[in-house]
Formats: sequence, C-alpha cells, structure tokens
Amino acid sequence: MHDNSATLVYFSPTGTTRKVLKGIIEGLQAGTVHEIDLTPPSAEGYDRALKTEGLTLIGAPVYAGRIPDTAVQRLKRLKADKTPAVIVVVYGNRAYEDALLELSTIVRETGFIPIAAGAFIGEHSYSTMTTPIAAGRPDPQDLDQARVFGALIREKLERIPSLEDIQALPLPGDFPFKDPGVWPEMSPTVREDLCNRCGICAEACPAGAIAMDTTVLTDKKRCIDCCACVKACPTGARVMEEPLIQQIAHWLSETFTQRKEPEMFV
Ligand SMILES: Cc1cc2nc3c(=O)[nH]c(=O)nc-3n(C[C@H](O)[C@H](O)[C@H](O)COP(=O)(O)O)c2cc1C
Repeated sequence: MHDNSATLVYFSPTGTTRKVLKGIIEGLQAGTVHEIDLTPPSAEGYDRALKTEGLTLIGAPVYAGRIPDTAVQRLKRLKADKTPAVIVVVYGNRAYEDALLELSTIVRETGFIPIAAGAFIGEHSYSTMTTPIAAGRPDPQDLDQARVFGALIREKLERIPSLEDIQALPLPGDFPFKDPGVWPEMSPTVREDLCNRCGICAEACPAGAIAMDTTVLTDKKRCIDCCACVKACPTGARVMEEPLIQQIAHWLSETFTQRKEPEMFV
C-alpha cells in the first residue's frame, strides 16, 4: 500500500460494527487511522461533504436485510474521488440479504471504488440474557477473521498496479432491494426504580430520540429501535419491552442457533 493511512467510517449504535472495523485495521497494519463516527445525531448536521483519507473502511449494521435508513442518509454526505473502499456489513446471525449490495451501491454513488467487502456477525441488538442471539460476537474467532481479511486486503493493494484494474466484486443480493417494511412506532421504556437519570442513554441514542427531564422522555417517532440505550444503560433501567420485539427476539433466539461465519469478498 503506497499511502499507508486509512479512514474508518461507521454507523454503529451498539458498537459491533466498529469492533469489526478495528479488527480489520489491525490486519491491514495501516499507519495513521482517522475515524468518522456517523452514529451520533450530530452526523446529520454535517453541512458539507466529509472528506476521507487513504483507504476507507465503511461499515454499517444490517436492519431487515438492508442498511438502516439513518445510516444511508449520513453515508450520502461522504464525498470521494475514486477513493478505494472496503465495505463491511455486520448482522445478528440471521441474514444480511441485500445489505452488502446496497452499501456497495451507496459508496459507488459517493465516488468510492469498493475493492473488498465483508459480512461479519455481531451480537444481535435484541439479544438478552433470556433470548441470546449471537451473544458476545464479534468474539476472538471473528476478530481473527477480521485481521485475516485486513491482511488479504493489504496483499491485494500491493498486488494491483492501479485502481482501474479492480474487477467488480461478486456480491450477493438482488435489485430491486428487499422492501424493509414499515414498523409500528416502538421504543424501549424506563424502569424508574433503577434509573438514576445519568443521561448516558440520551448520549448513546443515534436518533436524538431521548431527552432528559425529571424523567427520561423517549420520542417513539424518532426511535429506530436499535437498543443502543438499552445496551449503554449502566443500571439496566432501559428495557425493550415492546411485545413485537420480544416476540422477534424469541423467534431469532430459537431459530438462528447455528453459528454463521464471516464472509469475505476480496
Ligand atoms: C431494527 C433492527 C433490524 C435488524 N435486522 C437484522 C437482520 O435483518 N438480520 C440480522 O441478522 N440482524 C439484524 N439486526 C441485528 C443487527 O444487524 C446486529 O445486532 C448488528 O451487530 C448491530 O450492529 P451495531 O452493533 O454496529 O449497531 C437488526 C437489528 C435491528 C435493531
């Protein structure tokens, strides 16, 4: 790799996508690494296109077989000029369907050239002690795979004479992309007896849906049901008690018990 710098760009409400990208960067042995975190609501306010430097690793979770719309809107603010990119989706051991193809399409439209792609597994946002779904992932085995992927990308960059020689990646997925459907308005709730109003949930929310008052107020219209607040709450006061989500969590936990492994396209 001539230019040894790299940029990580990610939308990662519960942090698994970021962990996977960090593993890939280790295997890449990049020098300077910049990070552009598209998770906080402030990412919506970027008034001009964000510039990335060097090889850019772009990661997003899979929601309903697609890239979450919040991430799509923020990714569209990136601008590149034939910048090589590695695209990564992270999903909760069910399926990633059209998400990788969708991410590839978005980043091409913003001027990147995808040179490698990966689908990794992360603990499902709806995983709990009673309904574990890919709990603890990415685990050390996944992160080893992420490092291997990074090393393969480095080899590819050293091997190819120029970006013009990059062949289109054979990514799974179909056009038109799967309809993600419309979800009813839902959100996690607060167990007042456990809540100490520390505000960590409001800071963790990628949608700016939580406001602190004498109690914690959640705007169901804005909530994207990502469970970032649930996972960030230090006292266990944020809980996802919506019956539909609990039903989905039970189904996922009972159905997708077989471990899926990362897939890499280099
Ligand atoms: C609304 C929603 C929809 C999801 N849809 C899928 C899905 O279609 N397939 C899947 O395997 N996991 C799905 N997941 C799980 C996430 O992809 C998974 O937990 C991922 O690791 C989250 O990434 P993050 O930690 O970077 O936020 C979904 C999660 C949420 C919140």
